[in-house]
Amino acid sequence: MSAESSVSPSRVGVWLIGARGSVATTAVTGCAAVTAGLHPPTGMVTETPAFADCGLPPLSSLVFGGHDMVDCPLPKRAEGLAAGGVLPPGLPAAVTAELAAADREIRLGGPLSGETRDEDELVEALASDIRDFTIRCGLDRTVVVNVASTEPVPTGTELPASSLYAAAALRAGCPYVNFTPSMGLHHPALASAAAESGLPYAGRDGKTGQTLLRSVLGPMFAQRALAVRAWSGTNLLGGGDGAALADPGAAAAKNAGKERVLADTLGGVPEGETHIDDVPSLGDWKTAWDHIAFDGFLGTRMVLQTTWQGCDSSLAAPLILDLARLAARAHEAGLSGPLSELGFYFKDPVGEGPAALGEQYAELIGFAGRLRGAGDPQGTSGERPGSSGERHDPSGQRRSLPGERR
Ligand SMILES: NC(=O)c1ccc[n+]([C@@H]2O[C@H](COP(=O)([O-])OP(=O)(O)OC[C@H]3O[C@@H](n4cnc5c(N)ncnc54)[C@H](O)[C@@H]3O)[C@@H](O)[C@H]2O)c1
Repeated sequence: MSAESSVSPSRVGVWLIGARGSVATTAVTGCAAVTAGLHPPTGMVTETPAFADCGLPPLSSLVFGGHDMVDCPLPKRAEGLAAGGVLPPGLPAAVTAELAAADREIRLGGPLSGETRDEDELVEALASDIRDFTIRCGLDRTVVVNVASTEPVPTGTELPASSLYAAAALRAGCPYVNFTPSMGLHHPALASAAAESGLPYAGRDGKTGQTLLRSVLGPMFAQRALAVRAWSGTNLLGGGDGAALADPGAAAAKNAGKERVLADTLGGVPEGETHIDDVPSLGDWKTAWDHIAFDGFLGTRMVLQTTWQGCDSSLAAPLILDLARLAARAHEAGLSGPLSELGFYFKDPVGEGPAALGEQYAELIGFAGRLRGAGDPQGTSGERPGSSGERHDPSGQRRSLPGERR
């Protein structure tokens, strides 16, 4: 992994929006550590045997860059994460060359305070940074991954920053992944551009802790015909994400995804709310508590309580690497439109797909088989009916985008 300018046909760019954040820094550090054999790829689903021979780009071929609004150098950011116990002590120093290489490829994003550029000029500037990166580093393709701070749900007509970046990804011809609950490519103003782009995209909001558990427990209650009366949850977290989610608008965007999982798996939203509290001293460590009140046979009342104590960035970073590889391979294979088979990774997945984690995993494994059979954009082996991503028509004409809800 490096950002050298030598041309290699197999190199894939990963352009991180929010490139100096905790998740991004952990992903860049982790990729270097696994590539160097310093750590096993724990938590990376694409490193399991089910993904062998799918043509995924190797971790060593990933080249990182991105946009951010702050200028703290990536090696220093990684040292801060190591001091907080998110990264192993000594790891930032061991991969400092890779962190410095990625740092050189980070550009100031937008909108700036007092921004004078209009939306189109800003999108063009962001797209130009991504194109320059792809050309300068001699990359086959670049996947744009949004890991920036969560935005409040937009209310006016202006495109929020996440949607400006999504528009820039389309303009630069890049597959797009939204790991946050922000609007991104979901904005109605981008629907036709997304449909006409011929690019694959996935999102939104990574499913790493409380919602991951909900997507397992919800189906369990439904399949055992147990009546869930109330499902309440509280999250305590710090770090940049905790600070961003202290804004009620941003927390509302996050909680909508958490509740969608319950609605989809239980067939309705039970009584109860989900809260997010910013506790700065917890840093990147999150405690998520769920209290589930349910009825058994003859109305007997029971309660299940779960406590999840996780390190958010450590849970998210391997998924960023998975998603970048899968989106890059989907693009190489000529797939376009919403990649609903990646719903396994998200709270609020694009396209139509199951909500239960087990079924989502089966879809993902089917997708791996599809990629395995898709040696070239014109190939048809491994295709299965009803999949959401569409193949590019070899004539250059784009086919319809099935499963688009928004
Ligand atoms: N387990 C997880 O960690 C997890 C799970 C699901 C979703 N997410 C989402 O991932 C995102 C990143 O989380 P984090 O913990 O790394 O947060 P963070 O606060 O550490 O990093 C966010 C980064 O985004 C940057 N940023 C803010 N506005 C920007 C803009 N307009 N352009 C470019 N960069 C901008 C910030 O400067 C910061 O460096 C959040 O939206 C979070 O909700 C995380």
